Amino acid sequence: MKYRIKEIGLELGVPVSTIRYWQKEFADFVNPERTNGGQRRYSKQDVEKFLQIKEYVYRQKRSIDSVREMLKGKASGRPGIDWTQQTILVTGGTGSFGKHFCRMMLDKYKVKGIRVYSRDELKQHEMRQSFGEERITYLIGDVRDADRLRRAMEGVDMVVHAAALKQVPACEYNPFEAVKTNVHGAQNVIDAAIDTGVKKVIALSTDKAVNPVNLYGATKLCSDKLFTQGNAYAGGRGTKFACVRYGNVIGSRGSVIPLFLEQRKSGKLTVTDDRMTRFWITLDQAVDLVVTGFKHMQGGEIFIPKIPSMRIMDLAKAIGPECEIEILGIRPGEKLHEALTGEDEARNTISYKGMYVVLPNHTWWKRENYVDGVKLPENFMYTSDNNEELMSVAELQEIIFGCDRQEKEVAGLCLVSAAG
Ligand SMILES: NC(=O)c1ccc[n+]([C@@H]2O[C@H](COP(=O)([O-])OP(=O)(O)OC[C@H]3O[C@@H](n4cnc5c(N)ncnc54)[C@H](OP(=O)(O)O)[C@@H]3O)[C@@H](O)[C@H]2O)c1
Repeated sequence: MKYRIKEIGLELGVPVSTIRYWQKEFADFVNPERTNGGQRRYSKQDVEKFLQIKEYVYRQKRSIDSVREMLKGKASGRPGIDWTQQTILVTGGTGSFGKHFCRMMLDKYKVKGIRVYSRDELKQHEMRQSFGEERITYLIGDVRDADRLRRAMEGVDMVVHAAALKQVPACEYNPFEAVKTNVHGAQNVIDAAIDTGVKKVIALSTDKAVNPVNLYGATKLCSDKLFTQGNAYAGGRGTKFACVRYGNVIGSRGSVIPLFLEQRKSGKLTVTDDRMTRFWITLDQAVDLVVTGFKHMQGGEIFIPKIPSMRIMDLAKAIGPECEIEILGIRPGEKLHEALTGEDEARNTISYKGMYVVLPNHTWWKRENYVDGVKLPENFMYTSDNNEELMSVAELQEIIFGCDRQEKEVAGLCLVSAAG
């Protein structure tokens, strides 16, 4: 699709004369084709570039020269991370995410070293046995213990904070415990990272943190706020903090897939509400998102992947097509649909290469990265029921049964309802 200058003016709400001026000033970045009659025709990429220019000039009030410099810097690409030189500490390293993260960082990114930080020695023992890897060290510790965390982070370059209490009913029933682990634990991770000179920290968040209706979501929202604001506490020490936020992980411990796989043996699946929809992400995608976040983060962002949704009834059909479905009724603290961005976040959120990035709302924060990002309309919300990407029954079956490894992993996990 090619656009005339008038159409671009209308699309961007900018006078044609300004577009002409920008075209002249940013000729290195905008490359319209010419018709036989010599008229310019702009591509979608050109329009996106104009959008960025508009964002910088109109909203951020930058000079034309500084915008040119920024576009130049970004066009040359950001330097990648030399993972072979990084030592990473993962809180909750023995969990579903943590183990997968370790596997990918060792095999694909060849990291220098990983420190797994968690409480239960048995899980660590089992992981040590199955990984048989010298680059991993196992540290017993609780995120509630600030001193232990500080000691554990000495000499660490990056931290991934995955430890959490994440079962909705458990958090509701034990609210003090949920606050201690998910909120105080987050603060301890931030303090320890600053004190020990860690360079970058990414905390894992969840869709349940958006407009939370249960304590788990509320504690994760607090955690997000602590991490995005943690950058202010870092001061001159330079530690950067960001979050990644995603929906249910396919087959993670305590999620609905292992539950349905178990229930189908009895011929009956239980569903709380047949209208329910959820976002889904694979562990590979979750780890990739963290890696991308580390690469791009300036500090203060929330990275949100563009991922598919599924209807709970389609999942039930995919796993137990012959099974009877019992409807239990929606539980306290459960939503019909989940959201990955809130309405109020839209004005600070940009759409960027396979993900949304919620940018910090601080007056002192200057956007240096994300120059390819496109601003979202006011009141935009990314919710599981209005998602353009909806998985079909066949696609769900392919994901759950198509791959031996995944089926084994999924079926082998513990079977508790209500995913984190
Ligand atoms: N699974 C999902 O669907 C999903 C979706 C969105 C976001 N998330 C988020 O992703 C993160 C990881 O989830 P996951 O599925 O990997 O969870 P998981 O399998 O339950 O693992 C949790 C990990 O945290 C550790 N842990 C728990 N409490 C701790 C404490 N007080 N101190 C230190 N370690 C502690 C656990 O080990 P010990 O018990 O041995 O300490 C375990 O290693 C969580 O922050 C969760 O909120 C998950």
